[in-house]
Amino acid sequence: MPLIDTHAHIHLEAFDADRPAVLERAAALGVARLINIGYDLPSSEASVALADAHPMVFATVGIQPHYALTTIPAQLDRIAALLAHPRVVALGEIGLDYYHNRAPQAAQQELFRNQIDIARQHGMPIVIHARDAQADTVRMLVEAAVGVPTVMHAFSGDWQYAADCLALGAYISLAGPVTFPRAVELHEVAQRVPLERLLVETDCPYLTPHPFRGKRNEPARVRLVAERIAALRGVSYEDLVAALWANAQRVFPKLAAADPLFDV
Ligand code: NI
Repeated sequence: MPLIDTHAHIHLEAFDADRPAVLERAAALGVARLINIGYDLPSSEASVALADAHPMVFATVGIQPHYALTTIPAQLDRIAALLAHPRVVALGEIGLDYYHNRAPQAAQQELFRNQIDIARQHGMPIVIHARDAQADTVRMLVEAAVGVPTVMHAFSGDWQYAADCLALGAYISLAGPVTFPRAVELHEVAQRVPLERLLVETDCPYLTPHPFRGKRNEPARVRLVAERIAALRGVSYEDLVAALWANAQRVFPKLAAADPLFDV
Protein backbone atom coordinates (compact mmCIF):
# COMPACT_ATOMS: atom_id res chain seq x y z
CA MET A 1 0.00 0.00 0.00
CA PRO A 2 1.39 3.43 -0.89
CA LEU A 3 1.83 6.29 1.54
CA ILE A 4 0.56 9.86 1.17
CA ASP A 5 2.23 12.97 2.58
CA THR A 6 -0.85 15.05 3.40
CA HIS A 7 1.00 18.36 3.94
CA ALA A 8 3.99 19.51 1.90
CA HIS A 9 5.29 22.80 0.47
CA ILE A 10 7.45 21.66 -2.43
CA HIS A 11 6.60 24.79 -4.42
CA LEU A 12 9.08 26.67 -2.20
CA GLU A 13 12.46 27.87 -3.39
CA ALA A 14 14.13 25.24 -1.19
CA PHE A 15 13.11 22.71 -3.87
CA ASP A 16 13.86 24.73 -7.01
CA ALA A 17 17.17 22.97 -7.64
CA ASP A 18 15.95 19.36 -7.43
CA ARG A 19 12.12 19.15 -7.42
CA PRO A 20 11.91 16.22 -9.91
CA ALA A 21 14.51 14.26 -7.91
CA VAL A 22 12.58 14.96 -4.69
CA LEU A 23 9.45 13.46 -6.25
CA GLU A 24 11.41 10.46 -7.52
CA ARG A 25 12.93 9.80 -4.09
CA ALA A 26 9.47 9.93 -2.53
CA ALA A 27 7.99 7.51 -5.06
CA ALA A 28 10.96 5.13 -4.64
CA LEU A 29 10.17 4.91 -0.89
CA GLY A 30 6.47 4.26 -1.48
CA VAL A 31 5.32 7.85 -0.96
CA ALA A 32 3.12 7.80 -4.03
CA ARG A 33 1.08 10.95 -3.41
CA LEU A 34 1.49 14.30 -1.70
CA ILE A 35 -0.76 17.27 -1.08
CA ASN A 36 0.93 20.63 -1.63
CA ILE A 37 -0.54 23.19 0.72
CA GLY A 38 -1.21 26.85 -0.02
CA TYR A 39 -1.02 29.53 2.71
CA ASP A 40 -1.59 32.70 0.66
CA LEU A 41 -2.81 33.39 -2.87
CA PRO A 42 0.55 32.97 -4.68
CA SER A 43 1.36 29.69 -2.89
CA SER A 44 -2.17 28.46 -3.56
CA GLU A 45 -1.81 29.20 -7.28
CA ALA A 46 1.63 27.52 -7.22
CA SER A 47 0.15 24.44 -5.53
CA VAL A 48 -2.50 24.13 -8.24
CA ALA A 49 0.14 24.51 -10.96
CA LEU A 50 2.22 21.72 -9.39
CA ALA A 51 -0.84 19.49 -9.18
CA ASP A 52 -1.50 20.12 -12.87
CA ALA A 53 2.09 19.27 -13.75
CA HIS A 54 2.66 16.14 -11.62
CA PRO A 55 0.26 13.19 -11.33
CA MET A 56 1.47 12.44 -7.79
CA VAL A 57 0.69 15.95 -6.51
CA PHE A 58 -2.63 17.30 -5.25
CA ALA A 59 -3.26 20.81 -3.88
CA THR A 60 -5.02 22.87 -1.28
CA VAL A 61 -5.74 26.61 -1.42
CA GLY A 62 -6.18 29.02 1.48
CA ILE A 63 -4.85 32.02 3.38
CA GLN A 64 -3.00 31.76 6.69
CA PRO A 65 -3.77 34.01 9.69
CA HIS A 66 -0.52 35.99 9.14
CA TYR A 67 -2.22 37.74 6.22
CA ALA A 68 -5.44 38.56 8.06
CA LEU A 69 -4.99 42.33 7.78
CA THR A 70 -3.95 42.40 4.13
CA THR A 71 -6.42 39.93 2.64
CA ILE A 72 -9.03 41.58 0.43
CA PRO A 73 -12.38 40.07 -0.66
CA ALA A 74 -11.17 39.54 -4.23
CA GLN A 75 -8.48 37.16 -2.92
CA LEU A 76 -11.06 35.10 -1.07
CA ASP A 77 -13.16 35.03 -4.25
CA ARG A 78 -10.16 33.61 -6.09
CA ILE A 79 -9.58 30.99 -3.36
CA ALA A 80 -13.24 29.99 -3.65
CA ALA A 81 -12.95 29.72 -7.45
CA LEU A 82 -9.84 27.52 -7.19
CA LEU A 83 -11.77 25.05 -5.01
CA ALA A 84 -13.57 23.92 -8.15
CA HIS A 85 -10.32 22.64 -9.67
CA PRO A 86 -10.47 18.81 -9.81
CA ARG A 87 -7.10 18.38 -8.04
CA VAL A 88 -7.77 20.87 -5.21
CA VAL A 89 -8.79 18.64 -2.30
CA ALA A 90 -9.27 21.06 0.63
CA LEU A 91 -9.30 24.66 1.82
CA GLY A 92 -6.18 25.39 3.88
CA GLU A 93 -4.02 26.00 5.61
CA ILE A 94 -6.20 28.35 7.65
CA GLY A 95 -6.49 29.01 11.35
CA LEU A 96 -5.03 31.00 14.23
CA ASP A 97 -1.42 31.76 15.07
CA TYR A 98 -0.97 33.48 18.44
CA TYR A 99 2.71 32.50 18.53
CA HIS A 100 3.79 34.76 15.69
CA ASN A 101 0.80 37.13 16.13
CA ARG A 102 1.54 38.82 12.82
CA ALA A 103 -2.05 40.07 12.69
CA PRO A 104 -4.43 41.07 15.50
CA GLN A 105 -6.28 38.07 16.92
CA ALA A 106 -9.71 39.49 16.06
CA ALA A 107 -8.64 39.82 12.41
CA GLN A 108 -7.23 36.29 12.41
CA GLN A 109 -10.53 34.98 13.73
CA GLU A 110 -12.52 36.85 11.09
CA LEU A 111 -10.38 35.50 8.23
CA PHE A 112 -10.57 31.99 9.72
CA ARG A 113 -14.35 32.13 10.01
CA ASN A 114 -14.80 33.55 6.51
CA GLN A 115 -12.79 30.69 5.04
CA ILE A 116 -14.62 28.05 7.09
CA ASP A 117 -17.82 29.48 5.60
CA ILE A 118 -16.37 29.27 2.07
CA ALA A 119 -15.37 25.63 2.68
CA ARG A 120 -18.85 24.82 3.93
CA GLN A 121 -20.50 26.50 0.92
CA HIS A 122 -18.33 24.43 -1.43
CA GLY A 123 -18.54 21.17 0.51
CA MET A 124 -14.78 21.09 1.06
CA PRO A 125 -12.65 19.90 3.99
CA ILE A 126 -10.41 22.33 5.91
CA VAL A 127 -6.73 22.03 6.94
CA ILE A 128 -6.02 23.85 10.20
CA HIS A 129 -2.85 25.70 11.21
CA ALA A 130 -3.12 26.43 14.95
CA ARG A 131 -0.28 27.71 17.07
CA ASP A 132 -0.57 28.76 20.74
CA ALA A 133 -4.31 29.11 20.14
CA GLN A 134 -5.82 25.84 21.34
CA ALA A 135 -8.85 27.22 23.20
CA ASP A 136 -9.92 29.67 20.48
CA THR A 137 -9.32 27.10 17.73
CA VAL A 138 -11.54 24.53 19.40
CA ARG A 139 -14.18 27.17 20.22
CA MET A 140 -14.29 28.42 16.63
CA LEU A 141 -14.45 24.93 15.18
CA VAL A 142 -17.37 24.15 17.52
CA GLU A 143 -19.13 27.39 16.55
CA ALA A 144 -18.49 27.38 12.82
CA ALA A 145 -17.19 24.09 11.46
CA VAL A 146 -19.61 21.40 12.63
CA GLY A 147 -20.03 19.00 9.71
CA VAL A 148 -16.98 20.36 7.84
CA PRO A 149 -14.30 17.61 7.60
CA THR A 150 -11.30 18.97 9.51
CA VAL A 151 -7.58 18.11 9.67
CA MET A 152 -5.38 19.38 12.52
CA HIS A 153 -2.13 19.92 10.59
CA ALA A 154 1.23 19.17 12.31
CA PHE A 155 -0.65 18.49 15.51
CA SER A 156 1.21 19.73 18.54
CA GLY A 157 -0.19 19.54 22.03
CA ASP A 158 -1.10 17.04 24.70
CA TRP A 159 -3.64 14.22 24.73
CA GLN A 160 -6.38 16.41 26.21
CA TYR A 161 -6.17 18.83 23.26
CA ALA A 162 -6.13 15.90 20.85
CA ALA A 163 -9.20 14.48 22.57
CA ASP A 164 -10.96 17.86 22.24
CA CYS A 165 -10.19 17.87 18.51
CA LEU A 166 -11.31 14.26 18.09
CA ALA A 167 -14.58 15.08 19.86
CA LEU A 168 -15.23 17.61 17.08
CA GLY A 169 -14.71 14.88 14.50
CA ALA A 170 -11.30 16.21 13.42
CA TYR A 171 -8.42 14.15 12.05
CA ILE A 172 -5.01 14.39 13.75
CA SER A 173 -2.11 14.78 11.32
CA LEU A 174 1.30 14.01 12.82
CA ALA A 175 4.58 15.32 11.43
CA GLY A 176 8.32 14.95 12.15
CA PRO A 177 8.21 16.00 15.81
CA VAL A 178 6.57 12.67 16.77
CA THR A 179 9.91 11.02 15.89
CA PHE A 180 11.85 13.10 18.43
CA PRO A 181 13.01 10.89 21.31
CA ARG A 182 11.85 13.31 24.01
CA ALA A 183 8.45 14.22 22.49
CA VAL A 184 6.55 12.22 25.11
CA GLU A 185 3.26 14.14 24.75
CA LEU A 186 3.19 13.47 21.00
CA HIS A 187 4.11 9.82 21.59
CA GLU A 188 1.04 9.48 23.80
CA VAL A 189 -1.12 11.18 21.15
CA ALA A 190 0.26 8.82 18.47
CA GLN A 191 -0.63 5.84 20.64
CA ARG A 192 -4.14 6.94 21.63
CA VAL A 193 -5.65 8.56 18.52
CA PRO A 194 -8.11 6.09 16.97
CA LEU A 195 -6.48 4.53 13.91
CA GLU A 196 -9.25 5.79 11.63
CA ARG A 197 -8.54 9.45 12.59
CA LEU A 198 -4.79 9.52 11.98
CA LEU A 199 -2.88 11.14 9.09
CA VAL A 200 0.83 11.75 8.46
CA GLU A 201 2.65 14.64 6.83
CA THR A 202 6.06 16.26 6.47
CA ASP A 203 5.22 20.01 6.35
CA CYS A 204 8.43 20.01 4.31
CA PRO A 205 10.82 21.76 4.04
CA TYR A 206 10.12 22.22 7.80
CA LEU A 207 9.78 19.81 10.76
CA THR A 208 12.42 17.31 9.60
CA PRO A 209 12.16 13.97 11.44
CA HIS A 210 14.83 12.38 13.61
CA PRO A 211 17.67 11.60 12.77
CA PHE A 212 17.81 14.26 10.02
CA ARG A 213 16.79 17.21 12.20
CA GLY A 214 18.39 20.42 10.92
CA LYS A 215 18.41 19.28 7.29
CA ARG A 216 15.79 20.17 4.69
CA ASN A 217 12.72 17.96 5.00
CA GLU A 218 11.14 16.33 1.93
CA PRO A 219 8.14 14.08 1.21
CA ALA A 220 10.19 10.83 1.21
CA ARG A 221 10.76 11.38 4.93
CA VAL A 222 7.07 11.01 5.78
CA ARG A 223 7.97 7.35 5.85
CA LEU A 224 10.03 7.94 9.03
CA VAL A 225 6.95 9.48 10.64
CA ALA A 226 4.78 6.48 9.72
CA GLU A 227 7.44 4.00 10.89
CA ARG A 228 7.73 5.73 14.27
CA ILE A 229 3.95 5.77 14.75
CA ALA A 230 3.69 2.08 13.82
CA ALA A 231 6.38 1.27 16.40
CA LEU A 232 4.69 3.42 19.08
CA ARG A 233 1.35 1.69 18.47
CA GLY A 234 2.83 -1.79 18.15
CA VAL A 235 1.24 -2.40 14.75
CA SER A 236 2.84 -3.41 11.47
CA TYR A 237 3.95 -0.67 9.08
CA GLU A 238 1.77 -2.20 6.36
CA ASP A 239 -1.39 -2.13 8.48
CA LEU A 240 -0.75 1.45 9.55
CA VAL A 241 -0.13 2.63 6.00
CA ALA A 242 -3.27 0.92 4.73
CA ALA A 243 -5.29 2.79 7.36
CA LEU A 244 -3.58 6.12 6.56
CA TRP A 245 -4.41 5.70 2.87
CA ALA A 246 -8.07 4.97 3.63
CA ASN A 247 -8.23 7.91 6.05
CA ALA A 248 -6.85 10.36 3.47
CA GLN A 249 -9.43 9.15 0.98
CA ARG A 250 -12.24 9.59 3.53
CA VAL A 251 -11.34 13.11 4.68
CA PHE A 252 -10.32 14.41 1.21
CA PRO A 253 -12.98 12.83 -1.07
CA LYS A 254 -11.66 14.57 -4.21
CA LEU A 255 -8.37 12.66 -3.87
CA ALA A 256 -10.15 9.47 -4.74
CA ALA A 257 -12.40 11.08 -7.34
CA ALA A 258 -9.42 12.41 -9.30
CA ASP A 259 -7.05 9.49 -8.86
CA PRO A 260 -7.52 5.84 -9.92
CA LEU A 261 -4.74 4.83 -7.49
CA PHE A 262 -7.21 5.47 -4.65
CA ASP A 263 -9.75 3.10 -6.16
CA VAL A 264 -8.87 0.21 -3.88
NI1 NI B 1 2.33 24.06 6.28
